[in-house]
Formats: sequence, C-alpha cells, structure tokens
Amino acid sequence: RDVAVLVPAAGLGLRLGGGTPKALRELAGEPLLVHACRRVAQAPSVAMIVVAAPPAEVDAVRALVPGATVVPGGATRQESVAAALSAVPATIDIVLVHDAARALTPPDLVEAVAAAVRSGLPAVVPALPVVDTVKRVDTADRVLETVDRTPLRIIQTPQGFPRQTLLAAHAQATDDHTDDAGLVERLGHQVHTVPGSDLALKITRPLDLLIATALLTAHPE
Ligand code: CTP
Ligand code: MG
Repeated sequence: RDVAVLVPAAGLGLRLGGGTPKALRELAGEPLLVHACRRVAQAPSVAMIVVAAPPAEVDAVRALVPGATVVPGGATRQESVAAALSAVPATIDIVLVHDAARALTPPDLVEAVAAAVRSGLPAVVPALPVVDTVKRVDTADRVLETVDRTPLRIIQTPQGFPRQTLLAAHAQATDDHTDDAGLVERLGHQVHTVPGSDLALKITRPLDLLIATALLTAHPE
C-alpha cells in the first residue's frame, strides 16, 4: 500500500442546488462522499485517504468517514487539493486526486491509475471518447466549424502523480485550470491516459443525481 488518495469535497454544489455542500448530499441514503471513499478504500494499493471538507463540516465529515484524514478545504478546488496534499507524509510516493462528486467510481479504476503511476509515468488521467458531435460557435451562437472529435477525450478522476510532481504543480498553481493534470502539463510533463469509466461520471447537475441513482441499482458496490 503506497498510495494516498486526496478527495476534494469542500465545494458548495451550486449547480446541483439544494443548499447542502454537494459531497454531503445523499444518494440512496448515503452522502456522495461516503460512496466515493468506500470505493476508493476497496482499491488494494490505497494506504490513506485525505478528505478536504467544507470548513464548517470538518467534525461531521470525520464522523462520516472515520478511516480518513480530514482537513478543512479552501475557497477553490485547487486550494482544497493543496490543503489535502499537505497532510500526506513524505513516505508516500504516489498521490491520486479524486472528486467526491464522482461517487460511483469503481475501485478498479483507482487501482489502474495507481499502477500506471507506479510504472513510472509522471501523470495519469482516466479518459473517455466524446460521443456527441462537437461544433465551435461564435459569441452569437453561430456555428463556425465542426470539430473533429476523434482525438478529443472527456477527462475524469482519479488523476495520479508521483507526490513530488503534484507538489511542484501546486506550488506553481494559478486560477486558470480545471484539473490537477492541467497544472502538471504546465510543468512540461507528459500526461498519459488510461480508459475511464461511465461509473466515474461527475455528479454536477440534478440530472446526474438521477443517472447515478439508476447506475447504483445496476452496480450496488
Ligand atoms: N471542491 C472542493 N473545494 C472547492 C470547490 C470544489 O473541494 N472550493 C470539490 C467538490 O467538492 C467536488 C470537486 O471539487 O468534489 C469537483 O468540483 P465540482 O463538481 O465543481 O463541485 P462543486 O464546486 O461543489 O459544485 P459547483 O461548481 O456546482 O458549485
Ligand atoms: Mg465547482
């Protein structure tokens, strides 16, 4: 067991709505964060889980995921990840970053990302092909062109890195990125993809919660 998994869970969940921080919203009677952490903990390589909780909910989150280290998150996802990364001891070589909102991500995907980092890659992300036609539009919503979707990918989490690489990436962080691999790209490292999973969808809008409820029926663990 040589892997730490950071779980940013401090977001407000504004697009989902409902007034509760998203990671604490329930799916089939359990918070999204509990679903996510249980699946992460089932991956054989995982030595520790560090959750970045909404600052007002740190004690509540400690009670929900007793096996995890819980730290207060920040105002942005990047700050939350950086806070969780500070809690990882230097004895851990591989760090994965995994959104609490991807609550149904299978342990096999966690293990596949960890294995790819262990094989020597500097950055590993799960990727899925784009299934829809993609067009570029102007500010008046007129179509400018149809984009070739063949080389495009949807990127998920967990995203895996050697601990030192992720530390260096966050030391250089600015606001204009949406994932950790984006920060690592900026350092000049090659990011690699592994096959993603439909179960790793990010629960973002109310429709996603409905889809996740159906997925959970088909994939209970
Ligand atoms: N996150 C975090 N700290 C923040 C913002 C986001 O830890 N300050 C986490 C969220 O809890 C989530 C993950 O990052 O698990 C992905 O973010 P997103 O899906 O955007 O969640 P929210 O920011 O909560 O949702 P929204 O953007 O709709 O408010
Ligand atoms: Mg957000």
